[in-house]
Amino acid sequence: MKVLILPDEQAAMQRAADIVARTVTATPDAVLGLATGGTMLPLYEALAQRHREDGLSFTKTTSFNLDEYIGLAPDHPCSYHSYMQEAFFRHVDIDPARAHLPKGDAPDPQAASLEYEALIAAAGGIDLQLLGIGQNGHIGFNEPTASLGSRTRVKTLTTSTRRANQRYFASFEDTPRYAITMGVATILASRACVLLATGDAKADAVMRMVEGPLSAACPASALQLHASATVILDKAAAGALTFTDYYENVHPGGRDSAFD
Ligand code: PGA
Repeated sequence: MKVLILPDEQAAMQRAADIVARTVTATPDAVLGLATGGTMLPLYEALAQRHREDGLSFTKTTSFNLDEYIGLAPDHPCSYHSYMQEAFFRHVDIDPARAHLPKGDAPDPQAASLEYEALIAAAGGIDLQLLGIGQNGHIGFNEPTASLGSRTRVKTLTTSTRRANQRYFASFEDTPRYAITMGVATILASRACVLLATGDAKADAVMRMVEGPLSAACPASALQLHASATVILDKAAAGALTFTDYYENVHPGGRDSAFD
């Protein structure tokens, strides 16, 4: 894993934006895997700004989001369809027909999950997958003990995840219990991935992901198996790591090393 430690959240997010911009500029028809959550909001803002000011274009880009709640129609204000529309899609020139999310309101969510995997395969697989991490070590909605061989499917959310996401809903009871999520193996099949984590609430999960044992107890630790995983952190999220000197030696100030 490439561990890049940036001085603060703003710098970490710009570093992640650099990688997305570089990918889309080098390969305009790149397939991006996109993530939701509070951490990603400033990243989408930065990409929208680069679209407005620097002409960064997504017209040929295809995207697949990691997950969507089951039972929420796309136009529900708390759906990830709405999140993506508000945070990113409506600010850039991506073709809506090529911007995919799982269908949380499908009559048969399991069948919709299989179709989603097939769509990703038909697009040629994911070139760059963006990821956040939950305080419990989840990636997408792959909660602790999720199969490391899993593909897109229905997952039951943990109480801790529902509590973390309750702030977007009227109450805990209104917070969905189920989601369709890409599996751990779907994520591992991406050609490159970038995980962005900021703030000290993520420090323990980040330590278990990067330095802990490979274990379904921390699904993000599966990224240790990925041949091209970049973890972008601010100092707070890096606070529980042991080998910080090494990471800073290889990537001073979060820069790429000569051998990347
Ligand atoms: P957050 O969510 O960015 O809102 O903390 C990340 C996640 O749960 O994957």
